[in-house]
Amino acid sequence: MNSSFTAVTLNNGRIMPSVGLGTFQSTKEEVRTAVRTALEAGYRHIDTAYNYKNEDAIGEVLQEFLKSGKVKREELFIVTKLPMIHMEPKLVKHSIDISLKNLQLDYLDLYLIHFPVPFEAMEELMDLKLTRSIGVSNFSISQVERICKVAKYKPVTNQVECHIYWPQKDMFEALEKLGVTITAYAPIGSPGRPQILKGNDDQIVLLEDPVIQRLSQKYGKTPAQVLLRNLLQRGIIVIPKSVTPERIRSNIQVFDFSLTKPEMDEIDGIKFSQQYFYKMGAMFPTHPERPW
Ligand SMILES: NC(=O)c1ccc[n+]([C@@H]2O[C@H](COP(=O)([O-])OP(=O)(O)OC[C@H]3O[C@@H](n4cnc5c(N)ncnc54)[C@H](OP(=O)(O)O)[C@@H]3O)[C@@H](O)[C@H]2O)c1
Repeated sequence: MNSSFTAVTLNNGRIMPSVGLGTFQSTKEEVRTAVRTALEAGYRHIDTAYNYKNEDAIGEVLQEFLKSGKVKREELFIVTKLPMIHMEPKLVKHSIDISLKNLQLDYLDLYLIHFPVPFEAMEELMDLKLTRSIGVSNFSISQVERICKVAKYKPVTNQVECHIYWPQKDMFEALEKLGVTITAYAPIGSPGRPQILKGNDDQIVLLEDPVIQRLSQKYGKTPAQVLLRNLLQRGIIVIPKSVTPERIRSNIQVFDFSLTKPEMDEIDGIKFSQQYFYKMGAMFPTHPERPW
């Protein structure tokens, strides 16, 4: 990661902006405004998925900005994900073609396997130059290690839930040795996630954590900015989702302050543990290697 934490150099030499806009649960209408606001605010990294059903609306806005010359294609870092319904190797090329058409792009910057399934067919997409990098999501440490042993093109990132209550310390340490980054989803605790993923209602709201609240007051930054800054200083890429223009703008204003070493250590010492997406495992009851 470069010293200002604004971007990460991946194991294939490509540069990935370390703050991206998440778009899970953003409707087409919401995402049009969100992506416009984000691009105007300086975001260049957008995270979507075939499953989010908003790639086409994102594509419209990207075209708008590209055609007007407000951004160049090479400045953008567009990430989408291979859905479970297209996991069969023969469907993988078909799937990226659909996503590229939706997004109105010739290539992706990063294509992720949304959930742990075979990886080989993804490498062909690199050879076809349909994506600049490939990666995984929701994979366990051993799954990533096994892929790295045999991969022609190593995954550049593993996109997983990661925040101060689910810090992924073992994952970070193991993947750092492999040169694989972590992209944090739910970096601010996914307060708006659907009920089906909520589990019990007693979950502690990450944004209300007392340590984060205190640091937020000290620095005059929002709790979300403190949470994002903590992850960036650990070398982790973040993709906060918002459809609220003010929040979208503020979630990238995280490069004008720094948490001190004692503050990072204090956060590191928080013992409370909470995985907000733990119910995801229920979607794969018979998966032999469920990582959740
Ligand atoms: N690979 C996977 O399996 C996977 C799973 C989950 C998520 N993701 C990706 O990761 C992204 C982020 O995760 P997420 O959307 O679950 O959770 P998140 O980014 O931690 O939280 C998003 C929620 O926080 C609210 N919010 C945003 N900024 C805020 C701020 N400054 N202050 C207070 N609240 C704020 C948003 O509300 P408003 O929108 O109403 O502003 C939204 O309800 C997703 O959008 C998606 O792109 C990937």
